Amino acid sequence: MHGVWANRWTFILAATGSAVGLGNIWKFPYITGENGGGAFVLVYLLCIAVVGIPVMMAEVLIGRRGRMSPINSMRYVTREAGLHGAWTGIGWMGVLAGLMIMAFYSVVAGWALSYIFSTGAGMFAGVDGENAGALFSGLLGNSEKQLFFHSIFSLMTLAIVAAGVTRGLGMVARVLMPFLFVVLIILLGYGIVKGDFVAGLHFLFDFKLDKLSWDGVLIALGHAFFTLSLGMGAIMAYGAYMPDHASVGRTIITVGILDTVVALIAGLAIFPIVFGSPGLVPGEGPGLMFVSLPVAFGNMAGGQLFGTLFFLLVSVAAWSSAVSLIEPGVAWLVESKKFSRVGSSIVLTLFAWLGGVASIYTSFMFDTLDMLTSQIMLPLGGLFIAIFVGWLMRRAIVCSEMDAEGHPLFDIWLFIVRYISPILVALVLVFGLYKKFAG
Ligand code: PFF
Repeated sequence: MHGVWANRWTFILAATGSAVGLGNIWKFPYITGENGGGAFVLVYLLCIAVVGIPVMMAEVLIGRRGRMSPINSMRYVTREAGLHGAWTGIGWMGVLAGLMIMAFYSVVAGWALSYIFSTGAGMFAGVDGENAGALFSGLLGNSEKQLFFHSIFSLMTLAIVAAGVTRGLGMVARVLMPFLFVVLIILLGYGIVKGDFVAGLHFLFDFKLDKLSWDGVLIALGHAFFTLSLGMGAIMAYGAYMPDHASVGRTIITVGILDTVVALIAGLAIFPIVFGSPGLVPGEGPGLMFVSLPVAFGNMAGGQLFGTLFFLLVSVAAWSSAVSLIEPGVAWLVESKKFSRVGSSIVLTLFAWLGGVASIYTSFMFDTLDMLTSQIMLPLGGLFIAIFVGWLMRRAIVCSEMDAEGHPLFDIWLFIVRYISPILVALVLVFGLYKKFAG
């Protein structure tokens, strides 16, 4: 009904396009900065390996079995397993979380878009940390400007989703992703040559346990879900368009590794620049990318060009992810046969756009949407998906969808999905939330 990816690599690139986004380039560096660096990065990497990648396989598997939107795929596998219809709730929560994320995601993407122009026009030439901070606060204080770029970004996303799986999403994979990799490598080179690369390395990889709190652990887990686009049906929807005989295991490991490598490279480009510029600190918060980097670019030869390129990169990465935030709901509306693809895309983009308007006007809305989705809804979604695939789906079905007949790693994966991932997620959620709200 929706189309199929042209081949395995289109799926890999589309899923990587979903995974690699603001999470890698904007969020990962600043939460690492706020949570003290090394120890946080290690916990994050552990979460990716023992929770993220295994759960991602489980999620894709459900999508491929159901071959429909997350809501209807969940309905299909729930019926097949003879379970209560409440399990379909995983799909519903996912569609809702997607729209909620889009509501703040497109605002930040709008900032990046606007920075393409400010950097391109040379507004940051020669600025210091204070001036760059003032320019960023100026943007945050200018609701009309934010509204304008937020709307442009929403329209860009709408255009791709409305064009469908083959022409829209597949094109993103083939054109935008290679561009993104090339630009990222160029910027890494810049960080190495011009920044304080050793200080950046120490900050990212020195293991300082005393800097890490329970809240930090919860943030790391939440971020593992966020950065891999997990727990909300985006990857499930993409899995539904996967060709029949592609190995889920190998494919997903590739996506997980690509996403992690991009986050680390972004960190290795950004932190050396921060440490190489006097007066900048890594614990800057959400403004890190919009304050520290412009300072660096504003003070280097060719900075205008590289800076513009950087914000182009961020916008493109955000664009290919935003598409997957809307797709689960759009696929579901199309299946209901009451809307065309174009109509469904317009309806859902409009919903998310309205949420974005609210987050522009109240920062409380922005923070709440971010916290609710990445620290509660995505981990919960992932927890239920792991329980569903690990305990409730028939083993024979799981094995055949994984295409893993007799593969030794299959049993290890199933063990992780049954015991390790759900227990870890449940523990971190309970302790993390307890500490956050009661302790
Ligand atoms: N993975 C994206 C990022 O790291 O920016 C964000 C995201 C996209 C989260 C799609 C969830 C999702 F379903």
